[in-house]
Amino acid sequence: MHETISREFEQLDADDALASLRSEFDLHGTIYFDGNSLGPLPNRARQRIDDVVSRDWARGLIRSWNDNDWISLPRRVGAKLAPLLGAAPDEVIVGDSTSVCLFKLTAAALKCQERRKIITDEVNFPTDLYVLSGLQALLGNDIEIVRVPRHEIAAAIDADTALATLTHIDYKTAHMMDMKAVNDAAHAHGALVLWDLSHSAGAVNLRLAETNTDLAIGCTYKYLNGGPGAPAFCFVGTHLQKKLNPMLRGWMGHATPFALSPDYEPAPGIQSFACGTPEVLALSTVDASLDVFRNVVMDVVREKAVRMSELFIELVDTHCGRFGMEVASPRNAAERGSHVALRHEEGYAIMQALIARNIIGDFRAPDLMRFGFAPLYQRYTDISTTVKALYTIMETREWDCPEYRRRALVT
Ligand SMILES: Cc1ncc(COP(=O)(O)O)c(C=O)c1O
Repeated sequence: MHETISREFEQLDADDALASLRSEFDLHGTIYFDGNSLGPLPNRARQRIDDVVSRDWARGLIRSWNDNDWISLPRRVGAKLAPLLGAAPDEVIVGDSTSVCLFKLTAAALKCQERRKIITDEVNFPTDLYVLSGLQALLGNDIEIVRVPRHEIAAAIDADTALATLTHIDYKTAHMMDMKAVNDAAHAHGALVLWDLSHSAGAVNLRLAETNTDLAIGCTYKYLNGGPGAPAFCFVGTHLQKKLNPMLRGWMGHATPFALSPDYEPAPGIQSFACGTPEVLALSTVDASLDVFRNVVMDVVREKAVRMSELFIELVDTHCGRFGMEVASPRNAAERGSHVALRHEEGYAIMQALIARNIIGDFRAPDLMRFGFAPLYQRYTDISTTVKALYTIMETREWDCPEYRRRALVT
């Protein structure tokens, strides 16, 4: 690769308005393209965990539920996340896993609709499909689940549709749906839409209120850097909060949890979607991680991510196309989320060879290598270094060894 390219990328880094945010993260010289799977550790999160463990838990003990307001963490973290989703502070709550949040909101939506048909994306993330199949098993076979290609979703929603459950940005190809168009199409038929925003939150500029979004869920451990297994969020639009009745009922969603009444009475608003005791350590980590975004304008983040992914695609086409490496993501940036998937039949081994060089992306079966663009901590020069390494790995067949072919449990 030309020296001029390296110089051009160095200049882009020198001019980058987000460059100073890199020091918020603990990367130890690793080139990290896997924020679409697990964001890196923000230094603030490490500090917060230390404080919560050694001070609030060790010394405060049970008093910290009140003295450190642990009890309201799900709402406080939800309110902090809300601006990144284009939502109001009292439309978001954080707690439980993405899968559980999906169950909560799907069950509540089905209960409030007379209809029984659910439209979903045929290549939806497996957990999203499994949750639907569990609900079908629970509620009976008159629940109809229709799996539709992503491009045909809006047209498939009809007057029998109760709910469409969709992933905004596809976890494999990064194909991004037009939320407003789908919401409008669904609403015209009286259907609701539930969006999985796991690959969207912290990556693209979401406008849930402006697009009349009904329901959304998503994880906080990818682009929001909340930590491994960090709790997920539930968004319920204000217009639905009085209509929806939680089906996964727990005491933290009760109007007066410490009255310990045997009778269920939902808390008002989004709090009714809480369930059990808040995950204090994990929520504290997410809370601190969100502070990294405090003065960040999401349009600026998206603009840099698009620029980075365009440059990456251009370099891969030029230098790696000859080795049979194909771009599997949409080439139109407006239809692409924040990662780029490259297809190659030896993708797994190639990715292991890259990881051995301390350049980390991931792999999704059968043949996709994913590279996530997260402008808060990546440099433009990371792209040129990575494509140079990819080229060498292909040119010298560095990937072609048994060690890199051995599949680990987590890919
Ligand atoms: C679109 C999508 N939904 C859900 C999940 C995971 O759900 P959970 O947080 O419950 O493991 C992922 C994980 O990568 C995902 O990509």
